[in-house]
Amino acid sequence: MTTLYEQTLRRARDDPEDFWAQAAEAISWARRWDRVLDDSNPPFYRWFEGARVNTCYNAVDRHVEAGRGKQPALIYDSPVTGTVAALSYADLREQTARLAGVLRNLGVRRGDRVLVYMPMIPEAAVAMLACARLGAVHSVVFGGFAAKELATRIDDAKPRVVLTASCGIEIARIVEYKPLLDEAIVMSAHKPSATVLLQRPQQAAALGPGDHDWLDAVAAAQPADCVPVEATDPLYILYTSGTTGVPKGVVRDNGGHLVALDWSMRHVYGMAPGEVYWAASDIGWVVGHSYIVYAPLIHGCTTVLYEGKPVGTPNAGAFWRVIADHGVSALFTAPTAFRAIKREDPQGKLIDNFDLSSLRTLFLAGERADPDTVGWAEEKLEVPVIDHWWQTETGWPIAANCVGLGALPVKHGSPTKVVPGYDVRILEHDDDGSSRELPPGETGAIALRLPLPPGCLPTLWKNDDGYVDSYLSEFEGYYQTGDAGYVDQDGYLYIMSRTDDLINVAGHRLSTGGMEEILASHPEVAECAVIGVADSLKGQVPLGLVVLYAGSARSEAEIVPELVQIVRDQLGPVASFKVAAVVDRLPKTRSGKVLRGTMRRIADGVPYTVPATIDDPAILDEIEQTLSQIGYPRQPR
Ligand code: COA
Ligand code: AMP
Repeated sequence: MTTLYEQTLRRARDDPEDFWAQAAEAISWARRWDRVLDDSNPPFYRWFEGARVNTCYNAVDRHVEAGRGKQPALIYDSPVTGTVAALSYADLREQTARLAGVLRNLGVRRGDRVLVYMPMIPEAAVAMLACARLGAVHSVVFGGFAAKELATRIDDAKPRVVLTASCGIEIARIVEYKPLLDEAIVMSAHKPSATVLLQRPQQAAALGPGDHDWLDAVAAAQPADCVPVEATDPLYILYTSGTTGVPKGVVRDNGGHLVALDWSMRHVYGMAPGEVYWAASDIGWVVGHSYIVYAPLIHGCTTVLYEGKPVGTPNAGAFWRVIADHGVSALFTAPTAFRAIKREDPQGKLIDNFDLSSLRTLFLAGERADPDTVGWAEEKLEVPVIDHWWQTETGWPIAANCVGLGALPVKHGSPTKVVPGYDVRILEHDDDGSSRELPPGETGAIALRLPLPPGCLPTLWKNDDGYVDSYLSEFEGYYQTGDAGYVDQDGYLYIMSRTDDLINVAGHRLSTGGMEEILASHPEVAECAVIGVADSLKGQVPLGLVVLYAGSARSEAEIVPELVQIVRDQLGPVASFKVAAVVDRLPKTRSGKVLRGTMRRIADGVPYTVPATIDDPAILDEIEQTLSQIGYPRQPR
């Protein structure tokens, strides 16, 4: 007998247009589509071509019209400010319409970009929805990035307006946003015409010419209605790390995104309208876009917006308190959050202080879910712990245990099976350059057969060539995810590593190439390599190895702190770049390629073979010695 999961997978594969047209019935369209899938211009595919729709209407207004006006849409829980507040769907409509009025007064129209640089406060979600209401395109930038990263995004997205707040709060540290924003605008060639700033009581910011006080502007504005846009129009741009220091502008459209996210809430996450969903992430990441703001609201759930950390916030057991206080049904976070909780309370004693009976499922994603952490969470919480795998580009899960379609047995170390709508293949290049699919058990590049389902990126912002080069050129007819892994005999997928030089630090995706560019800009650095080394809390952290110019007179003790500081200043604290060492030379192949993988294995204490192509094997001994002097490998295996 086939399971509901298998039937759904087959339906989506056999007739994707019919499958997604049925899913699209859950969305309110201003005009229905001419074609479900426009495949006339491969490799560019567009979903719901000809349809008109408004994302904010579907996330907010229609729920008020359907009688959910009094239901909490968003619960703001902020242990770092001691605040808990709820916005009903009616409140959210009112606030969103007014902020959309502010943007309209500032000249923002359909298709214009608006940069959102905000901490985890309700106004950040309101800002995103207000853009969607006008058909403007938001680009949210995570608060932990430095001014230079912000400037790069301003120059690429060319926003007309910036929405920001005076500060963010990192438990004990106030992060002033305005000086960072001002610095970024000085650096950028494009100059936004206005900034609207929300003053927070913890730290006010001085307003300059062209700056507007948020509350004053909202008080003076008339509410704006939802503007229907083409389903294929962009809803947002979210920048993500590529293999160089230049981030990629992932584009999300309106129609496909609405349909896919709504479908995922029910079928992947098993959520019903009216239930409380909590994604403990940040709006600056894709998890925050999809599962703090859009999906729960589109589906008529209550979303929790949490400002704080899992540990170190004023009260211990913060996650358990939030679940108990708000009746959370599903929690989604990164494994690193659970590693932090486990470290603070290994026996899970704090859990006993709270009533967690509302919690049905814990979802983990963003990095590899190590079996120890998954096992600990299963034992302590006594609910299914679902590892699932996806990325900024797809916007919603590629592989998961779809609890809404009937949970499958869990295998630790695997995010279970492909989600209906996707077609995952494990590929490898043959010697003649053609590609072939690998049989179960063999590790290769994880690719997705085109077309991608609705909700995934249609292209990169103003960069169709970059989209093709980055994702579609390696295997013709496939999108390459950048991850390597295998499928076992039962069809379970295993994600083993990246095929590029991206690393994953506390669930945050970062480019070692980008950090190398920054280190190389130091006047005394001749050559450098950044590798991701294993870390028991953050999964991976970056480690820099630098070769100084001959004749450099200063000591390692003087230079290393400078290297740490320039990465913090230019990329941001989120990089967690804290360790670097000076070496005489870097190991390379005879053709000059730096052997980063070999150095990573040495740093992690993993057995390695000396590559046949190495130009001088003796260098590896030197690297071993240097790493050992700074404490690597951390725990010999
Ligand atoms: N604004 C400014 N600075 C920020 C920031 C923000 N929004 N977010 C993080 N930072 C800073 C931190 O303060 C820290 O600075 P420090 O080096 O001065 O201590 C640095 O960036 C690194 O942050 P982070 O990686 O979050 O480490 P942490 O030690 O503060 O916290 C965890 C560790 C595990 C508790 C934390 O990473 C966490 O809660 N992760 C949850 C998972 C998550 O959100 N994943 C996102 C994708 S799902
Ligand atoms: P991001 O685009 O920042 O969400 O990062 C996506 C990348 O994180 C993926 O391509 C993977 O490398 C990694 N990742 C996300 N989820 C998982 C998971 N469940 N298991 C292993 N790696 C994951």
